Amino acid sequence: MKNSSLLQAQNLTKQFGSGRTSVRAVDDVSLDIGKGEVVVIMGPSGSGKTTLLSMIGGLMRPTSGSIFIDDADISAMSEARLPGIRARYIGFIFQAFNLLDALTVEENILLPAQLAPGGVKGARGRVEDLLVRLDLAARRGAYPGTLSGGEKQRVAIARALINQAPLVLADEPTGNLDSQKGSDVTMILHDVARDQGCAVVVVTHDARIEEVADRVLWLADGRLRDRKSEIHSWARDPVCGMRVDEWTAVHFAEHGGRRLAFCSPRCLQRFEANPEAYGSVDAPAGGALQS
Ligand SMILES: Nc1ncnc2c1ncn2[C@@H]1O[C@H](COP(=O)(O)OP(=O)(O)OP(=O)(O)O)[C@@H](O)[C@H]1O
Ligand SMILES: [Mg+2]
Repeated sequence: MKNSSLLQAQNLTKQFGSGRTSVRAVDDVSLDIGKGEVVVIMGPSGSGKTTLLSMIGGLMRPTSGSIFIDDADISAMSEARLPGIRARYIGFIFQAFNLLDALTVEENILLPAQLAPGGVKGARGRVEDLLVRLDLAARRGAYPGTLSGGEKQRVAIARALINQAPLVLADEPTGNLDSQKGSDVTMILHDVARDQGCAVVVVTHDARIEEVADRVLWLADGRLRDRKSEIHSWARDPVCGMRVDEWTAVHFAEHGGRRLAFCSPRCLQRFEANPEAYGSVDAPAGGALQS
């Protein structure tokens, strides 16, 4: 379901620092996201994905350019107004979770509801539903320090969905989840777009999320590219043999003068423990393996 426009970003640029050490993390990016649309942003590490998402979510001001959500220009808004706008319009799933250690799972999930129109009271029913859907019911009273990485990630997802905000921004939401939970989260994000008409923007290198996306945007060196093929190549994980998208892979090792890409930390660890066992890999790391 794709309806009218919810978010328009125009000529967004973010520069960190100044002079010779400055970094242009996002460079003149314009995009338009419709209600009910799932948009995936892919790109190598350091290409500006988190920076772009943070600006769209009103967490970071652009150096130049503007961001309109439902026709309100959040890039020109005062700091005082932004938290209210974020609570009403945006659910943000952070790459680093950003949970509050002094609050329980349930309290973390309910936190954004304090600023939303129905308040915490209005969100009680929804928190029950999210605890069940994200398999967190048994952990509702636990503190983040006692949770696994995957559990923390699911709490971060529930917190982003609690206000039923029209725009959900997710930074690597399945990066810490096993295969089954990763699929569950993919379906949840797909469902909030289809059933609630939310716009969902996901930074990921997860092919399952790419499959449910209406659109994929490719970011390299802070700029949007038309096609992945302009800058992308396949590699093969020397441990498990899986085909890896070298362009978006995050686990690498140097061996014998070659750069090898791995599907997961697990395969990388196995390789590093005994590199010689995988020495006869015949496929080149950055080779021309086709899909
Ligand atoms: N606060 C900051 N100060 C200075 N440079 C920064 C800052 N935040 C990001 N950068 C730089 O901007 C560039 C883009 O960073 P960003 O975090 O957006 O990349 P990313 O695509 O999300 O990477 P990853 O896939 O590793 O999460 C990088 O070169 C990074 O070093
Ligand atoms: Mg990032």
